[in-house]
Amino acid sequence: MKIFLDTADLDEIKQGVAMCLVDGVTTNPSLLAKTGKTFEQVAPEITRLVSGPISLEVISDDAEGMIAEARELARIADNVVVKVPMTEQGLIAVAKLADENIPTNVTLIFSAVQALLAAKAGAAYVSPFIGRLDDISHEGMELVEQIKTIFDNYGFGTEIIVASVRSPLHVLEAALAGADIATVPFKVLKQMFIHPLTASGIAKFKEDYAKIPKR
Ligand code: G3P
Repeated sequence: MKIFLDTADLDEIKQGVAMCLVDGVTTNPSLLAKTGKTFEQVAPEITRLVSGPISLEVISDDAEGMIAEARELARIADNVVVKVPMTEQGLIAVAKLADENIPTNVTLIFSAVQALLAAKAGAAYVSPFIGRLDDISHEGMELVEQIKTIFDNYGFGTEIIVASVRSPLHVLEAALAGADIATVPFKVLKQMFIHPLTASGIAKFKEDYAKIPKR
C-alpha cells in the first residue's frame, strides 16, 4: 500500500521525504490555509519535494471553471493530480480532463455509489473520507471495503485513497481492506513507528550489551 502525506506543511513533507516512505501528497484548501503561506509559495515546492502524485484542489462550482483551474494546476508540474469535488459538475470535469490526460482525484466521497460514478467518469483516484464518517457514527472502513469490491468486480483502474485518516488503526484497516493508498497526517505517520515493546526492547538490549565482558 502506498503512503501519501495529507498535509501542505513543507517542513512535515521534508521530514516525511527524509524517512523515504512518502509516495505522494494530498492537499486541500483547509490544509493550505493552515500553512499561512500563499498557494504559489507552497504548491510548486511540494511538487519538487515529492516526485509522486501531488493532489491540488479546484474550488469552482461549475465544470467549466473546474476545467480551467485544472489546466492551470496541471501546468505547475507533471506530477500534479487535480482534486475535484464529488458533484455532477465535478464528474463532467473529470470526464473532460481524462480526455486531456489530466489525472483527477475525486474528493469528499461518502458512499460507494459516488465512487462508482467517479470511476466511470474516468477518475484516476477516489478519496473516501473515513474519519468524517466515523465522526458521525458510521463505520468509515465499510465504505472502503465496498468500493474495493465494486472496483474489483468491474476491473476499474481507479485507485482508492483512504482519506480523513485519524489514527494508525485506520491505516491498518485500509491495508487489510486492500486500499491502494492511505493518505495520512504527519502525526499519524510518526505514530505508526511506535510500539512500547520496541522501545523497551531496545532499552533492554542496550542494558545487556553493557554487561557483555569487554576484552
Ligand atoms: O485530504 C482530505 C482529508 O484527508 C481530510 O481529512 O481530517 O479534515 O477529515 P479531515
